[in-house]
Amino acid sequence: MGVGHGKIIIMGDHFVVYGIPAIVSSIDRKIIAKIEQWNGKGILCDYKGFWKGKNLMQDDKETEWLRNVMNILLNELNLQGKKFYLKLQSSIPVGVGLGSSAAISVAIAKELNEFFELGLNEERICEVAYKAEEFFHGTPSGIDNTIATYGGLLKFEKNLAGGKNRIERMKIEKPIRIVIGNTEKKGNTKELVEAVRERKEANPKEYKEIFAKAKKLVGEAEKALKEGDLRKIGELMNENNALLCKIGVSTAELEELCKIALENKALGAKITGAGGGGCMFALTPEEKVQERVAEAFEKNDYEGIKTKIGV
Ligand code: PMV
Repeated sequence: MGVGHGKIIIMGDHFVVYGIPAIVSSIDRKIIAKIEQWNGKGILCDYKGFWKGKNLMQDDKETEWLRNVMNILLNELNLQGKKFYLKLQSSIPVGVGLGSSAAISVAIAKELNEFFELGLNEERICEVAYKAEEFFHGTPSGIDNTIATYGGLLKFEKNLAGGKNRIERMKIEKPIRIVIGNTEKKGNTKELVEAVRERKEANPKEYKEIFAKAKKLVGEAEKALKEGDLRKIGELMNENNALLCKIGVSTAELEELCKIALENKALGAKITGAGGGGCMFALTPEEKVQERVAEAFEKNDYEGIKTKIGV
């Protein structure tokens, strides 16, 4: 069985593409891949809730994206032409910034590694999944495939020179309750990252200041997390969200969700992932507040996902 973890970025989304550190946590949503023997041609695939009994190597609009991912993974792992039966199961909502694309690549890569006894370590799995992420996102930072591989709570820093990224496991005293608010609108990560790049190039002075602030916030958030200062983390999330609004990746719905969360006593609220739709999350360490915020989201017709970070 191969598992890829879903995630939320606690601090540093977008800025992480430019080498600014980010803090990311897995959540209790994941993708599971299971491979069995298959004696027919190609790759038979079931994706629970999406399709059953499709052959990935045959032309099909619905499965085309997965065929592309599979071809990248098989090439990277020298497994071209292998036949098998792939079963996928996911509890991560698709395309809303919770890392489903990275999680699927990681889950399949881990299971290919197990089934074909390749003996690869997690670092190599992470690298292979990054290749598939490039297909989805163009110039990804690598944060999604990293957290999907390792899980937990991580500080991630992209190596802009192309060498190994810096990955540091962070420890907190106990997991913290959050509520993810889902707009159920799909943001296009590739387009959003490119749009930020264009705006950054057109406004170098303004963006230099924004990026310097973003870097400072991550440093402060790391300290606050280590010290268990939840109020401070909440404040920093709000400040990080203001920067994400400034770089143009928020939407009216995301802002509405943040407003609802804060009105219902969340300690902080911010977009997570690329924005342009997708999800935000609210910091709600107390169970009562978590319930209240989730209910308020639902009342306003948004999905509210109760989960924890730092598990
Ligand atoms: O794929 P998403 O929506 O979780 O976005 C990933 C986070 C970004 O920082 C926006 C892009 C990246 O590659 O780090």
